[in-house]
Amino acid sequence: MTEKRRILSGIRPTGKLHLGNYLGALRNWVDLQNDGGYECFYFIADWHALTSDYNRTEEIRENRVDIVIDWLAAGLDPKRSTLFVQSAVMEHAELFVLLCMITPLSWLERNPTYKEMKHELVDRDLSTFGFLGYPVLQAADIIMYKAYGVPVGVDQLPHVELTREIARRFNFLYREIFPVPEPLLTTVPKLLGTDGRKMSKSYDNAIYLSERGKELRRKIESMFTDPRRQRKSDPGRPEVCNVFAFHNIYSPPAEIAQIDEDCRRAAIGCVQCKKRLADRIEEGLRPIHDRQDYYRSNIREVHDIIADGNERARRVARATMAEVRDAIRI
Ligand code: TRP
Ligand code: SF4
Repeated sequence: MTEKRRILSGIRPTGKLHLGNYLGALRNWVDLQNDGGYECFYFIADWHALTSDYNRTEEIRENRVDIVIDWLAAGLDPKRSTLFVQSAVMEHAELFVLLCMITPLSWLERNPTYKEMKHELVDRDLSTFGFLGYPVLQAADIIMYKAYGVPVGVDQLPHVELTREIARRFNFLYREIFPVPEPLLTTVPKLLGTDGRKMSKSYDNAIYLSERGKELRRKIESMFTDPRRQRKSDPGRPEVCNVFAFHNIYSPPAEIAQIDEDCRRAAIGCVQCKKRLADRIEEGLRPIHDRQDYYRSNIREVHDIIADGNERARRVARATMAEVRDAIRI
């Protein structure tokens, strides 16, 4: 048997997962696991959460567990994938320190994500050493496991590119230890939040993976539709409607085609269209909700799964660090 190629990805614990997280990343992580050709490592990047929010730490622990529950509910299987927490594997910090020594400051200062975030998140203090070093910590996360591939969205490409440069530099300076990882681009379906902006917790426009019943219906009722369709008698344009984009994912093909037609000739109103969407989403999420309920009432099991994943990750990390120290002669 040839060795499986290793995949690694992570998420910051900023809150329970929403449909954007699920459809844009998690669903793909589950597919990679089920493919059978990969050995998957998925982790909670809790130190990374501190790089921009060091003064808002109240929810990190709770979020960590919520996210792992969402992972398990979505189909990540702890027997096949290693699910762990970054801060439980101290080796990440050690490798981070060592990589800091060899990373030119100019590589970090010219990082487009860094410049963009500093520009956009004006309400946060991003003038710390930790925030500038964000990609170095991310590089440590990735190369620690000698990952071949990193499934990420486009926003993370600059970070993976920096990781590749840091891995090459290490190999060149000391010894060829690290494979240069490939970004595995996840194509994100074009789904927006309820207000038509990118779905995000901080915009308060997200539909959560745990959402159901009245709450779910209320959110869907509030969704923006075709702005030119003011009255029910106005013909609509499904191609510009976010509700329709969701139907495209959650409804069967015949129903999608019917809504498309009925919307264009004003034979269906938005209220009814949204009701049908709520039914479909609820139906689609039911298996996930059932598993969320299961893990919520068996929370010990979740903690055991995390502890076991941490241990598995540590074993790999320890072996890598032994090689690294040896190569550096420290
Ligand atoms: N920066 C990633 C994000 O914000 C999270 C992350 C940290 C990550 N370390 C990683 C992703 C390593 C992939 C691999 O989404
Ligand atoms: Fe959108 Fe449906 Fe209204 Fe058409 S009928 S504009 S698809 S919500």
